[in-house]
Amino acid sequence: MQRIISPSILAADFSNLKAACKMINRSEAEWIHIDVMDGVFVPNISFGFPVLEAITKYCMKLIDVHIMIVHPEKYVKRFAEAGAEMLTFHYEATENPDEVIDLIRHEGIKVGITINPDVPVAALKPYIDKVDMVLLMSVFAGYGGQKFREESYDRLKELKSMVDELNPACLIQVDGGVSINNAKKLFDHGANVLVAGSAEFNAPDPKEMIRKMLL
Ligand code: DX5
Ligand code: ZN
Repeated sequence: MQRIISPSILAADFSNLKAACKMINRSEAEWIHIDVMDGVFVPNISFGFPVLEAITKYCMKLIDVHIMIVHPEKYVKRFAEAGAEMLTFHYEATENPDEVIDLIRHEGIKVGITINPDVPVAALKPYIDKVDMVLLMSVFAGYGGQKFREESYDRLKELKSMVDELNPACLIQVDGGVSINNAKKLFDHGANVLVAGSAEFNAPDPKEMIRKMLL
């Protein structure tokens, strides 16, 4: 089973993103997680295309973009052009998830779909065989540094059995409050990709923390 760490750049020092990219390049993290927030779908605003482009210029790892925006269909092409290799959108942000999935596929990049903690896991069922990844949010999207929601383990179990039944190749990602305290348990419950922001970038040695979370 694949075990991947995707460090979230949201917790990095924005005045030195090049250094953050270099750290990730040298680390055992296979992906880099980039959170785009629009201030409408979520209350917070993070950054947009110029920053994404700057990161893709320096980062050699898979560019994993999590869009917390309304009307994701409008921006799929621009995210692909800016370097997204995996593009994950929110189920709640669109009336037509199938359309967004098709648009992302059309760009020739990988597609992910995600839900916040208040959406039943069953909502993802119709899409599991159409996507490369499902992202289970273990906090409400919008801010880094929140506390991991313990009910996420039960949700993960439910999602894992759906994925096993419908599309075993589909990756399961968990995002929000992930740290050294829950990484092993999440991997053991069937997660393939763990996103970690503050747990990595606030660690005295982020590269070492990435290594430890994979143990
Ligand atoms: C939250 C974002 C996360 C965030 C995680 O909306 O989707 O990717 O960066 O941050 P931590 O790991 O600090 O909870
Ligand atoms: Zn995220």
